[in-house]
Amino acid sequence: MSEFYDNLIKNNKKWVESKLDLDPQFFEKLAKGQKPPLLWIGCADSRVPANEIIGAQPGEVFVHRNIANMVIHSDMNMLSVLDYAVNALKVKHVIVCGHYGCGGINAAMGNQSIGLIDNWIRHIKDVYRVHKKELDSIEDETERFNRFVEVNVTEQVFDLAKTSIVQGAWNNGQELSIHGWVYGVDSGIIKDLGVNVKNDGDLDEVYQLNF
Ligand code: CO
Repeated sequence: MSEFYDNLIKNNKKWVESKLDLDPQFFEKLAKGQKPPLLWIGCADSRVPANEIIGAQPGEVFVHRNIANMVIHSDMNMLSVLDYAVNALKVKHVIVCGHYGCGGINAAMGNQSIGLIDNWIRHIKDVYRVHKKELDSIEDETERFNRFVEVNVTEQVFDLAKTSIVQGAWNNGQELSIHGWVYGVDSGIIKDLGVNVKNDGDLDEVYQLNF
């Protein structure tokens, strides 16, 4: 076994001790249940650890991560996480957090086949198609890449709002805001894109559901 692997369990023991030093009841309290105020939908990228970059403790963030922080309306995993977060945990905020330098977004800008994942990346290409005019007009490739990361996050925010789960919650008068963020892997800094969707009036009429 590698040294990296061997250290994982050792590190866990140290982490438990450090938590208990600060609060001897830390795990007892967590064992009673969770009531996180936030659902995080982020990229699976190893450089973007949800809790760590926002200084959140265990119990504070319900997390779903996939390649390029996508909200695919037929993804049972995402829908189940969203349904549980909104209807059982009653989270007040959902944050879609993308990141600059995202490999999924980069792959979507190119044409190289990389295997089965092409079918996932295809959803990101759909975002490019919708924003083709703006993205094609950006000559600098890095700038275009960065902007693609941002518009992809914005689209996922709206895709969340289009779900029956989110619109149902709004219809019930539940307090629920959806935000779009982008994390800088090279700076550690989060940029709030200012996309803040609070009700279905922010959606194109064709997506608005009557209950
Ligand atoms: Co990524």
